Amino acid sequence: MADLRTIYMGIPLRNPLIVGASPLTANLESIKRIEEMGAGALVTYSLFEEQIQLERFEFDESLHREDCRNAEMITVFPKMEHGGPQEHLMWVRMAKKSARIPVIASLNAVNKETWFEYAKLLEETGVDGLECNLFASPKNVQQENITAESEQIELIKKLRQAVTIPVSVKLSFFYTNPLSLVRRMDEAGAAAFVLFNRLFDPDIDVNQEKNVSLLSLSHETDYRLPLRYTGLLEGTIKADICSSTGVFTGEDIARMILAGATAVQTVSALLRYGSAHIQTMLKQFEEWMDRRGYSTLASFRGKLSQRYSSEPWAYTRAQYVKLLMDPRGIMDKPLSRKD
Ligand SMILES: Cc1cc2nc3c(=O)[nH]c(=O)nc-3n(C[C@H](O)[C@H](O)[C@H](O)COP(=O)(O)O)c2cc1C
Repeated sequence: MADLRTIYMGIPLRNPLIVGASPLTANLESIKRIEEMGAGALVTYSLFEEQIQLERFEFDESLHREDCRNAEMITVFPKMEHGGPQEHLMWVRMAKKSARIPVIASLNAVNKETWFEYAKLLEETGVDGLECNLFASPKNVQQENITAESEQIELIKKLRQAVTIPVSVKLSFFYTNPLSLVRRMDEAGAAAFVLFNRLFDPDIDVNQEKNVSLLSLSHETDYRLPLRYTGLLEGTIKADICSSTGVFTGEDIARMILAGATAVQTVSALLRYGSAHIQTMLKQFEEWMDRRGYSTLASFRGKLSQRYSSEPWAYTRAQYVKLLMDPRGIMDKPLSRKD
């Protein structure tokens, strides 16, 4: 029987399937179920800067209730479903205490002071690691990418010094060159990279002529973007790679590890099919390993990365050239559900 154990950010996991930050990791009952279904670890839903600032604002407001404030101030922060930061910290502490699998806390701050203060407070809850959710989409045409990236690299360097638990970085793919950013953050001491986050995109309801934001889940072929970057990064950095987005099946776990991942994260698959799907994915993965004759993850990790693959161009632009040289390869083949 295959041994699914792995070591992620220096933390031993019983298998590489991590449940990502989401409503699935936001209550104790759900966490218990995730654990029972066999997940290797979980990442708690993020503590956001807005929650922290909102609490500070409310506290400040209570001190200065008689002050004349601009009425628009109350709309500065979006209505939050979550509780405040104290409640969040208490909850993470409880989650860590009750879970038998490793618990990684997630933080998404904006101000430097908030990052450091809350990274330390989250560490004090006893969690095994900290995932920095560097969610930031471009907001204006003035912001220089060099400045934004340098600030984030500096942040990781300082966070590493501020806490003793391992620090991972969850990135979106909105960077000019995610590969060079990852390399520089690797040098800054990140223990792992979660590639990639999936951002909620805005939408427009044309009947009501209103901006709306809808919950959008990943689709089953979305794993290809993280797969590409996993394959390109394997062997180039010290940190672990945790492939995320579009991981739906045991085969997807196998794909990511073949490309060079140490672990994977999944959310949409479980929101779509329920937590019991963890068991299905792990069974599929284990059966695949048995079929291929692999007894450990190390025996095939990175085998199809750009570094080791016999077809390294598969990760580069040249793949289009190959298709152009032999278009019959595409035209003659019946299209599958995944094409
Ligand atoms: C409803 C929902 C809530 C999420 N909340 C968080 C969060 O609090 N912090 C975070 O870093 N990512 C959050 N994510 C992103 C997921 O952790 C994950 O990175 C993303 O959904 C891509 O993985 P998937 O394709 O398996 O869904 C959320 C995703 C969904 C669908």
